[in-house]
Amino acid sequence: MQIALAPMEGLVDNILRDVLTRVGGIDWCVTEFIRVCDRLLPPSSFDKLAPELRRGARTAAGVPMRVQLLGSDPVCLADNAALACQLGAPVIDLNFGCPAKTVNKSRGGAVLLKEPELLHAIVREVRRAVPAHIPVTSKMR
Ligand SMILES: Cc1cc2nc3c(=O)[nH]c(=O)nc-3n(C[C@H](O)[C@H](O)[C@H](O)COP(=O)(O)O)c2cc1C
Repeated sequence: MQIALAPMEGLVDNILRDVLTRVGGIDWCVTEFIRVCDRLLPPSSFDKLAPELRRGARTAAGVPMRVQLLGSDPVCLADNAALACQLGAPVIDLNFGCPAKTVNKSRGGAVLLKEPELLHAIVREVRRAVPAHIPVTSKMR
């Protein structure tokens, strides 16, 4: 069994990831969701939400960190996933679970479960864009 630190936007940032992974007992953690709209994000956006990428995508305690993306445009998600991998992400996680109204209103998170064909297109394009050795996962609730 593995124990993951749940991603929490606005709460589990790099500082809390650092503190909690120092305590121990966590096998891997995830960034807060990185929102992808209609463009390739600049590397600084990844650096802001995932500064651990600068040190091998691990917290100071050595716990691996995955990068979570949120959005609904398959190609744009794929381009940003590829960039995240270039920047050092060891796993790409797709947010298909966020129930927040503000997020769902802009067609992100759990609301995507109502559009299985879109989900499929997102996974297909992201999988295609990401190097084969890097796992692509999705979080649903
Ligand atoms: C404040 C807050 C922010 C959250 N942000 C994210 C997020 O960015 N990505 C994500 O996948 N889940 C997010 N979640 C969901 C949690 O990771 C986790 O799944 C949830 O709190 C546990 O409840 P569950 O058993 O219903 O999943 C968030 C939850 C809370 C309370």
